[in-house]
Amino acid sequence: MTTTEVLDAPTRTNGIKIHKPEDFEGMRRAGRLAAECLDLLTPHVVPGAVTDDLDRLAREFILDHGALPACLFYRGYSKTVCISPNHVVCHGIPGARALREGEIVNIDVTVIVDGWHGDHSRMYGVGPISTKARRLIEITYESLERGIAAVKPGATTGDIGYAIQSYVESQRCSVVRDFCGHGLGQVFHDNPNILHFGRKGEGAVLKPGMFFTIEPMVNLGKPQVKLLSDGWTAVTRDKSLSAQCEHSIGVTEDGAEIFTLSPEGLFRPALETAA
Ligand code: MF3
Ligand code: CO
Ligand code: CO
Repeated sequence: MTTTEVLDAPTRTNGIKIHKPEDFEGMRRAGRLAAECLDLLTPHVVPGAVTDDLDRLAREFILDHGALPACLFYRGYSKTVCISPNHVVCHGIPGARALREGEIVNIDVTVIVDGWHGDHSRMYGVGPISTKARRLIEITYESLERGIAAVKPGATTGDIGYAIQSYVESQRCSVVRDFCGHGLGQVFHDNPNILHFGRKGEGAVLKPGMFFTIEPMVNLGKPQVKLLSDGWTAVTRDKSLSAQCEHSIGVTEDGAEIFTLSPEGLFRPALETAA
């Protein structure tokens, strides 16, 4: 048992922190700022946009609001956001690369507000995109919504994974196994692991006051990924398109509260398809 577990012992069940009702307010503020950060980036995700410029916009926005970018210097990561285009599954590193028309891109941001973490990601189309790319993005959002709908006291983490996997595979897409959602709160990556695949009734039992992310990665092709030599960028082995979206949520008495809702209703950015 680690020191943290000893100190937290009365508020943890099977290693999962049970937060107090007043802790929800901290998560609402962190989640809202993460959503506002992606709202701010939305009009800037256009052909020619340099990914490092998007990263700088996000960093300045977060610091201007008295918050901290959680990814900056996290385990040696050197940017504020992850930007993952096309066949990049997650953890793409912003740089000199410019976005091109027809690409699809995930932007993932985590902020720390008064010690609380808000972790959130969305998909964007860069100008008009193909119908198959649009379909993949819509399936990914729907899978997240189905995962959240499975959250309530007494349900299990396996129920969430089952809801996501069964839907995604019914659409002839695949779920990435190598990355998962995670507990968060005053810690960035905590228990429980939220697998985006699984069986009903398996895993940890959900209780009010648990906070975690759900962040399915969905591929048009096979689920296998490989890590590039930068040590971060994960790509699909078969080079098929991949999409992801992420909310931070809390378990309530009768379901889930989503902390990362967009004040401007921009969670699902408008997608244009090429004629
Ligand atoms: N935001 C990512 C997540 O969902 C974590 C990125 S870690 C980083 O958990 F270091 F790559 F930024
Ligand atoms: Co996350
Ligand atoms: Co994230």
